[in-house]
Amino acid sequence: MSEPRGLFVTLEGGDGAGKSTQAELLAEWFTARGREVVRTREPGGTPLGAEIRRLLLHGGDEIGAVDPRAEALLYAADRAQHIATVVQPALDRGAVVVQDRYIDSSLAYQGAGRVLTVDEVRGISEWAVRGLWPHLTVLLDLPTAVAAERRRARGGVSDRLEAEAEAFHAAVRAGFLALAEAEPQRFLVLDAAAPVTTLHERIVERISSLS
Ligand code: TYD
Repeated sequence: MSEPRGLFVTLEGGDGAGKSTQAELLAEWFTARGREVVRTREPGGTPLGAEIRRLLLHGGDEIGAVDPRAEALLYAADRAQHIATVVQPALDRGAVVVQDRYIDSSLAYQGAGRVLTVDEVRGISEWAVRGLWPHLTVLLDLPTAVAAERRRARGGVSDRLEAEAEAFHAAVRAGFLALAEAEPQRFLVLDAAAPVTTLHERIVERISSLS
């Protein structure tokens, strides 16, 4: 029997779109089929990344306003460490990597959502990961108002980005949709308001068509 081929699947979408739920279900699906699954996320998928994540999302007053380029580089640094030490080694041994957020989050949040251009952010992100792109990216798309309602219902303390204005989230959503439109062969766009099981079935259907 041939060795299993490494498979890299990322889940993208706004905060509160249900990425983690679908990532868990997909990981279980692969595990049940005898595959080694690495379930991970950005930012924060390594010890170094956990520190970067803390600074980015919960840094507080002592770090002050983060310059957009500094922010983009911190996400890229998190990503470089994560790919080099977790994701690429897993793919090399034939594992499936199921990951919450990747380069597309930087393109949408730091590029489309802020002052940098998508191309600028793509440049540093691709360099950081030596050009590694996922086999499949699932975009869980949700109207901005519905996503905001979900975040409120989830409760708890909002992180710095979640507290941003509605307009920012709308720009991020439009950014994700534009990326998906430009690369339909890599993206699967789903309406995140659909039932959890329906979404899972659609993802599995697409995964099955990959091999
Ligand atoms: P995450 O923990 O996935 O938040 P959530 O569970 O709410 O989706 O991501 C943390 C935040 O980091 C999220 O608001 C999006 C942001 N982010 C970026 O701005 N750029 C990036 O490259 C990544 C990976 C995340």
